[in-house]
Amino acid sequence: MLKDIESILIPEAKIQERIKELAKQIEADYQGKTITFICILRGASVFFCDLVREINLDCRFEFMSVSSYGAGTTSSGEVRIVKDLNTPLEGKDVIIVEDIIDSGSTLHYLKNMLAQRNPASIKVCALLDKPSRRKVDFKGDYIGFEIEDKFVVGCGLDYAERYRNLKDVCVLKPEVYTK
Ligand code: PRP
Repeated sequence: MLKDIESILIPEAKIQERIKELAKQIEADYQGKTITFICILRGASVFFCDLVREINLDCRFEFMSVSSYGAGTTSSGEVRIVKDLNTPLEGKDVIIVEDIIDSGSTLHYLKNMLAQRNPASIKVCALLDKPSRRKVDFKGDYIGFEIEDKFVVGCGLDYAERYRNLKDVCVLKPEVYTK
């Protein structure tokens, strides 16, 4: 697995340090409230587990699975719900947790869709953001790191379902995904 890695973009220690900062920011913003965290499977799972364990507030976990239509390394903009939530969001303070905002299509769609379920508030927390790749206007509320347009894996992010378990955010060798 490591032979496919070109370089480490964000080392584990830096990721964990940033997650603690994000958690502090979220705690300050949600004092006295119960947060419903929605983990968007599968990429966000690793970040989600690290983030929620740093939050010292009452919270609930929800899991959703979505897939964008089409294949390849870019998403098509259309989103299909593979697994929906088990509980209503009415009146809840919701934070959607994602691994990456790329074109912005997935979160643009998801946030609008979930907002129609009348939560008290809805925000987005993403570990990574690639603003240079935006196709739709979308801005996250809590962002771990803004990164340039490199093909990254690790910390939940995959290429062809591999590399999610790497602790660092790594740049994949181009020959791996251009094969
Ligand atoms: C990734 C990521 C986001 C989406 C971001 O999911 O987790 O959901 O793509 O891309 P966008 O901003 O261009 O819409 P992916 O479809 O790869 O599924 P995964 O989470 O199971 O890896």
